[in-house]
Amino acid sequence: MDLMTAREAAELWGISQRRVAIFCAEERIEGVQLKGNMWLIPQDAQKPVDARSVRFQPKTPAAAKPFLKWAGGKAQILDNIRMKYPVGLGKTVTKYAEPFVGGGAVLFDILSNYNISEVYIGDINRELMLTYQTVRDDVDSLISSLQSLEEEYLSADETKRKELYYQNRNKFNELKLEQSEAIELTALFIFLNRTCFNGLYRVNAKGGFNVPQGSYKNPSICDAENLLAVSKVLQGVKIVCGDYKMSASFIDENTFAYFDPPYRPLSASSSFTSYAKDGFGDKEQIELAQFIDKLSESGAFVVASNSDPKNAKRQLL
Ligand SMILES: C[S@@+](CC[C@H](N)C(=O)[O-])C[C@H]1O[C@@H](n2cnc3c(N)ncnc32)[C@H](O)[C@@H]1O
Repeated sequence: MDLMTAREAAELWGISQRRVAIFCAEERIEGVQLKGNMWLIPQDAQKPVDARSVRFQPKTPAAAKPFLKWAGGKAQILDNIRMKYPVGLGKTVTKYAEPFVGGGAVLFDILSNYNISEVYIGDINRELMLTYQTVRDDVDSLISSLQSLEEEYLSADETKRKELYYQNRNKFNELKLEQSEAIELTALFIFLNRTCFNGLYRVNAKGGFNVPQGSYKNPSICDAENLLAVSKVLQGVKIVCGDYKMSASFIDENTFAYFDPPYRPLSASSSFTSYAKDGFGDKEQIELAQFIDKLSESGAFVVASNSDPKNAKRQLL
């Protein structure tokens, strides 16, 4: 079979080379082959109908979706991030790392739709990472704990719900303070996430979770079906609690790494960077940019999100 490169196909079909690469990655050209990092296309292949206006749907519907609400979560802009996935993802790019995982919108898209052999997720938030571990390793006990919390909360009237919310928040903070690893702590973490104001996770100077109750009429506290699906895709995933720099030894030239740090505030008054008690200021942003540059230079496929405050100078880096 005679083959042509993506550049030749782009010329033949009058579209960009990048567009051809996207068609190849989406498996929309029959007989296409990936050699190293280069697409080879049968010379007699037909140009796929350009579906720019029709959003690409992955073949298998996503089985597992984020089980937490998370500030800065990327579910709303997943389509834009998908456009930045490396073309060989799931083929030559066999590893995935997400060192600021939060609620994991990109993680679950990748776990549900690509064949990845090694996955690393990390976050500085201890209780968050403990929750991922519990979902991976002991989902049945977690579901039963969460179902009790849900039943108690949903069957209560407004006054009683308020009382329960603050009781559960206190219990969570006690367990957090003693660095407990109990299932109860994880169940309370999910309970608070589903019932607090806007699903925020904010802590005071002593590390105590201090978000007030939200005003949801019928919050979904235990989505057992999704938790089971999440547990399934998390099997074998390396879950690390700590600074993003710990991912350096995992990320290599076969890895796609997505970095989604706390954003640099657009203005002095708009900052929400306090996911943990140690903030993420300009010094940390500069170090992160240097870290990412190094990884890219060493051959890793890196995508990073951040704000565009217009007042950051590249030469600072
Ligand atoms: C913008 S959020 C990530 C949102 C995520 N992409 C999602 O879809 O939900 C940033 C995350 O970085 C974490 N974080 C803050 N400082 C960190 C650090 N030094 N190392 C690793 N994670 C950190 C926060 O706990 C928070 O979960």
